[in-house]
Amino acid sequence: MLSRQIAPKLRGYETPFYLYDIGLLRQTLESVVYESNKYGYKVHYAIKANYDDHLLGIIRQYGLGIDCASGNELRKAVEAGFDPKGIVYAGVGKRDKELRYAIEQGIMAINCESIQELELLDRLSAEAGKVTDIALRINPDIDPKTNHCIDTGQADSKFGISYEEVLANADEIKALKNVNIIGIHLHIGSQIRELHVFENMCNKVNVIVENLEKLGFSFRFVDVGGGLGVNYDVPENEPIPNFASLFSIVHNHLAVGDKEVHFEFGRSIVAECGELITTVLFNKTTATGRKLVIVDASMTELIRPALYGSYHNIENITAKDDEVRTKYTVVGTACESTDVFDENVTLRKTQRGDLLSIKSAGAYGMSMASRYNLHDLPGAVYSDEIK
Ligand code: LLP
Repeated sequence: MLSRQIAPKLRGYETPFYLYDIGLLRQTLESVVYESNKYGYKVHYAIKANYDDHLLGIIRQYGLGIDCASGNELRKAVEAGFDPKGIVYAGVGKRDKELRYAIEQGIMAINCESIQELELLDRLSAEAGKVTDIALRINPDIDPKTNHCIDTGQADSKFGISYEEVLANADEIKALKNVNIIGIHLHIGSQIRELHVFENMCNKVNVIVENLEKLGFSFRFVDVGGGLGVNYDVPENEPIPNFASLFSIVHNHLAVGDKEVHFEFGRSIVAECGELITTVLFNKTTATGRKLVIVDASMTELIRPALYGSYHNIENITAKDDEVRTKYTVVGTACESTDVFDENVTLRKTQRGDLLSIKSAGAYGMSMASRYNLHDLPGAVYSDEIK
């Protein structure tokens, strides 16, 4: 990881901060572009993963579209110079003003998640004197074999319209005059490491598309969402996610003729290029003998461990290589008992003033930061700007 190599230089920055390895980000983007081009697939970046301006500027250079989840994310993408014609917008609860803005921008597609939303979109489009391109986000009822907190495509999920409901309302949907239904969208979950799950997804999509087209729908594209997982355990082993395998599975199992195939990757684009760098404030031992390392970051900079029990690999980047290794519990500064980064981590002897890297934190780190306890938001340091 970059931070260990440049640790002395990092001493000059106020912690906690996110360190972004721009070289790795570029390699990741090169990989996703190269692999997707083999099949003519189109890739959108899920901006919710990280909407940092510097990163967005780089991502834009590689020609990716955007997937957004709110009116403000859409505005951010437009302001960052992404072509609205490459932007899709999903979200289970879009406000009227957000829908009006998306209609006005004429984006590639609004991914609709309920029959009521479709009807509202039809009305708002009519009011704007437009016909809006949309995709039906269908809940495919697939178990993505990931942390339950981040699965999104099982029957009971809040996301998407159930396939049965689309069938039952097919005639009403087709009769809407101011929406143009041009695609099917689904997203089954995030941090998916068992790639055979995507095979199940393709089989479901094939049936959905075939049956809906028999009912008179006609789709230009299929958008299969994001979800490709990264290696949180040992990021050094797999700094660039396996886009090639995923695309090959989709190529072998998706049978939708010559329709465009779109993906929306968040985590797999930016997770590995980001590390949260934090300073050790104190050591102490609990009455039960647990050795605590108290760092100056907390769940307000990186909430994933506290919110989902997610694992991030941690390393002491300033301790000497031959320092003895000890088991610690690394905790943050917030007034919450769940503000624990890892309960059982082996680190080189760690003491006040050391710098720790909490790795694979580029996705859903900064974008989920909060100001709880009135903490300042963390800064960002980019490898291409370090002297
Ligand atoms: N498309 C849609 C419609 C989504 O809802 C998401 C993520 C993505 C694409 C991007 O998925 P990815 O490629 O990043 O897996 N905060 C959680 C993850 C929530 C994901 C929400 N949706 C975490 O930190 O694990």
